Amino acid sequence: MKVLVIGGGGREHALVWKLKQSELVDKVYCAPGNAGTSQIAENVNVSEKDIRGLIDFAKNNEVGLTVVGPELPLVMGIVDEFEKEGLKIFGPNKECAKFEGSKALTKKFLEKYKIPTAKYKQVEDYEEGLLNLEDFGFPVVIKADGLAQGKGVIICENIDMAKNALKEIMVDKVFGESGDVVVIEEFLTGEEASVLCFVDGNNIYPMESARDYKPAFDNDEGLNTGGMGNYSPNRLFDEKLNNKVRQKILNPIMEGFKSEGLDYKGVLFIGLMIENGEPKVLEFNVRFGDPETQSIMLRLDSDLANIMLNTADGMLAEEDIRWTKRHSACVVMVSGGYPESYEKGKEIFGLNDVDSNVIVFHAGTKTEDGKIVTDGGRVLGVCAVGDSLEEARETVYENIKKISFEGAYYRNDIAR
Ligand SMILES: Nc1ncnc2c1ncn2[C@@H]1O[C@H](COP(=O)(O)OP(=O)(O)O)[C@@H](O)[C@H]1O
Ligand SMILES: [Mg+2]
Repeated sequence: MKVLVIGGGGREHALVWKLKQSELVDKVYCAPGNAGTSQIAENVNVSEKDIRGLIDFAKNNEVGLTVVGPELPLVMGIVDEFEKEGLKIFGPNKECAKFEGSKALTKKFLEKYKIPTAKYKQVEDYEEGLLNLEDFGFPVVIKADGLAQGKGVIICENIDMAKNALKEIMVDKVFGESGDVVVIEEFLTGEEASVLCFVDGNNIYPMESARDYKPAFDNDEGLNTGGMGNYSPNRLFDEKLNNKVRQKILNPIMEGFKSEGLDYKGVLFIGLMIENGEPKVLEFNVRFGDPETQSIMLRLDSDLANIMLNTADGMLAEEDIRWTKRHSACVVMVSGGYPESYEKGKEIFGLNDVDSNVIVFHAGTKTEDGKIVTDGGRVLGVCAVGDSLEEARETVYENIKKISFEGAYYRNDIAR
């Protein structure tokens, strides 16, 4: 079978890498891909937004399974369009993808099915927002309803910040129509964790846990980024917490999907805040996380193509998903200045000098005149598996030193 992976980041490189190992897969295409995917798959120059172009490619090349990495094509309804044409695709349909496309919709769903989450109020304009601020203390969290590339959530320490956030989102429309509706939310404290699940329309199966690091600098200082590193399994998750997540969150989500008549198939990424062992849902994403996918795929023993086909067919079984007990760690190398402005086009050295047990997933890279150069903020995810977390981490940090490019930066405290 031929597989098409849509997207071009570290997440997609990890998915391509894992799909390549499947006995069911002869060839993998990646649209648009990066320099890393081009080494193990064939990159295809079609944008993730060009749904018609992707359908034509899948048809002309007899693609048996398409896997969607990023949220935008899912929210645009790529799954419905592919299925209309009789093409098999892994991901939620447009109706289900609304959980990422609208934070207000997710809050309404969580409330209706009594799933623990922060207290909130949905508002439709600036004046209504101002009136409702009074019901919340500080800090208060102001969220643009729609997609905002990870920038639509503002934590406001005082009334002036909150007014300003409401004005920027609802009057100045800095996120366009994504700010037509705003969710005002109670500020939660605790430790964040994400639970990624396979959902096949009937059942929900959590993947192994991971721990993400969002802030740019050591000790969680600096601005939030897309993710500076990650490890799996997450130390926070013991049997007690796993059971609680299953009972209070996963089971009611599945019941909710069924009673709403939602045929959710694909990955559901649940963002959690955990305080004193009690998990509360922050948000849903409707696809794999980046870089969680990199460290999780390193621990998946089973055939990913088989899991995805069974998910799309609504017949995924617990036995289809097996994990290694070993630990994985991933440290992201970024361009100097990220997440603010940074330069691109810097040649990357040392990619072939790492030990054979180290896997380097590419994110923002491309090939130029036969050289691999930087092409984004997050450039590489340097990953390894070990019998202990320490072993995985030490392998990564021993090897990351061998890779270099002008302005390269990474955190030194991932998985410590
Ligand atoms: N109610 C809340 N209390 C405290 N922090 C929050 C709350 N909601 C969101 N955050 C913080 O903001 C980040 C982004 O919010 P999230 O809802 O995940 O939106 P997105 O990922 O789409 O930007 C979270 O990872 C968390 O750090
Ligand atoms: Mg989030």
